[in-house]
Amino acid sequence: MSEILLSQLAHVELFSPRPDETVRWMKDVFGLEETTREGRSVYLRGWAEWLHSSLIVTEAEEPGVGRIGWRTYGPGDPEAVAKRLAGTEEAVGWVDDWTGHGATYRYRAPHGRHLHEVFWEVDRHQAPPQERDPALPNRPQRYSGRGIGARYLDHVTMPTANMRGDIDFYKQLGARHTAQTEVEPGFAVFSTLTCNGIRSTHDLALVPDFSGATGRAHHIAFRVDQRQDVERAAEIFLANGTPIEFGPGIHGIDEITYLYVREPGGFRMEINAGGWVNTMPDWEATTYQAAGGNAGQSIYRNVEAPDGFFEAWPLPAEDAAEKERAAVAGEGLRDFFGEQAGSGR
Ligand SMILES: [Fe+2]
Repeated sequence: MSEILLSQLAHVELFSPRPDETVRWMKDVFGLEETTREGRSVYLRGWAEWLHSSLIVTEAEEPGVGRIGWRTYGPGDPEAVAKRLAGTEEAVGWVDDWTGHGATYRYRAPHGRHLHEVFWEVDRHQAPPQERDPALPNRPQRYSGRGIGARYLDHVTMPTANMRGDIDFYKQLGARHTAQTEVEPGFAVFSTLTCNGIRSTHDLALVPDFSGATGRAHHIAFRVDQRQDVERAAEIFLANGTPIEFGPGIHGIDEITYLYVREPGGFRMEINAGGWVNTMPDWEATTYQAAGGNAGQSIYRNVEAPDGFFEAWPLPAEDAAEKERAAVAGEGLRDFFGEQAGSGR
């Protein structure tokens, strides 16, 4: 019997210390649509997304990611998740916050401590008639043509001090571990997972956390249709004064054309297109090697990520940040993994 409890990454909450500027940028430059406002949060969605919201911008002191929402495969699945996690340290419980979706159960990953929520019932976007194209009923609304026109939420990438432990946890809920990058045999520094049996490569990615902090986030990714749309996005970011951090380029691990920028609140956003389609439910994670030109990172094996690309939010205290910089530079990596060896990595 197969059991896929989760069907898609439905939303991610982005914390912003400059919420007005972040929301304006998400709408005018990134091209998202505003659904509603509630308290300190603004709910947004890509123009082609049927769900109520895929990005929730919430005012906070520092950039970061709050709750990560997953729609289940069917009714009763949230209860199945709750039953599976009952009595564990990962269980948070049923919550009353149902904006955009129905009954909601929350849990945390065991090591990264990221906050997830699952639900089945969802509010579908109801566009006013003038925003719809009756000839294209698969679309909730017409193509907006605004900004880069980000179409769908794609994935979220998060640091964890125990990658193996968190992978095992996510697999308990039906995720497939699709690929990883090792710096040395057994020492993985990047992993991709997908909750969906028919998705391409990942809706969740993990990177190591060397700081000792938990609940941090590295980036949130949205998709556009074509690889050329990513190059067009780069032009639009340039024209709008949005700092481009990395790309455009093609990752080998998922074969997506990627581009990373920083939104006004300081958080890293990715826009991507393309990628290979992994339909294998019994897929075993492939392993890329970082040494000698990391094909996982750059399919052409000729591009390194820039300094600062390891930064994740909230930024750790300065001494922890120093430890992290040293680890990323390779000086402390073995020590770090040595510490991890006894903790189920
Ligand atoms: Fe990514």
